[in-house]
Amino acid sequence: MARASVIAILFFAVCISSSLSLGYGAAKPRKFIIEGRVYCDTCRVEFETKLSESISGAIVKLECRNRTNGSYTYRSQDMTDGKGNYKIEVEGDYGDSDCDVALVKSPRPDCNDPTQEWRKARVVLTALDGISGDLRFANNLGFKKKVALPGCKQVLTEMGYFEVKHELEDEATNP
Ligand SMILES: *[C@@H]1O[C@H](CO)[C@@H](O)[C@H](O)[C@H]1NC(C)=O
Ligand SMILES: *[C@@H]1O[C@H](CO)[C@@H](O)[C@H](O)[C@H]1NC(C)=O
Repeated sequence: MARASVIAILFFAVCISSSLSLGYGAAKPRKFIIEGRVYCDTCRVEFETKLSESISGAIVKLECRNRTNGSYTYRSQDMTDGKGNYKIEVEGDYGDSDCDVALVKSPRPDCNDPTQEWRKARVVLTALDGISGDLRFANNLGFKKKVALPGCKQVLTEMGYFEVKHELEDEATNP
């Protein structure tokens, strides 16, 4: 009985101290870890399919710009690992900036056509947005393959891609 209450008190104390340290953590200079992946868009559709391939050795850049006057507040680059993943560490809080990860360079000559300029992955690097934790995942970014793989037609058909595309085209021609 006595032992059980000691354990209960200890457990309670641990809970309080860990919530206190979380409270202090928020006041310290922040550090964020941004993770994402670079793939080869083997079907040239600007989204991932099951035929997409990871690209290792691709270069991505992270850029944060002051939302008010557009000047750069943070810039860095990283290279993807053997699985096409990158990890960028950033110190500080960038609540006043717009931060994006964008493609820079692909090591694959058959797959080095960056997807549209507007395709960037927005990351939010502030503790003030209600997202807790230091890890931020960026949407995956793809380079387009010069020539689509022969299997793409079937994979895209399975995904319903052509139906949606026709609907969009019909809407565009008969508004
Ligand atoms: C962003 O630019 C505005 C206008 O010049 C300035 O007041 C503000 O301090 C800048 N913010 C950062 C984080 O540099
Ligand atoms: C934007 O604001 C920052 C902080 O006030 C300043 O250092 C920087 O020079 C400004 N950039 C431009 C392009 O006005």
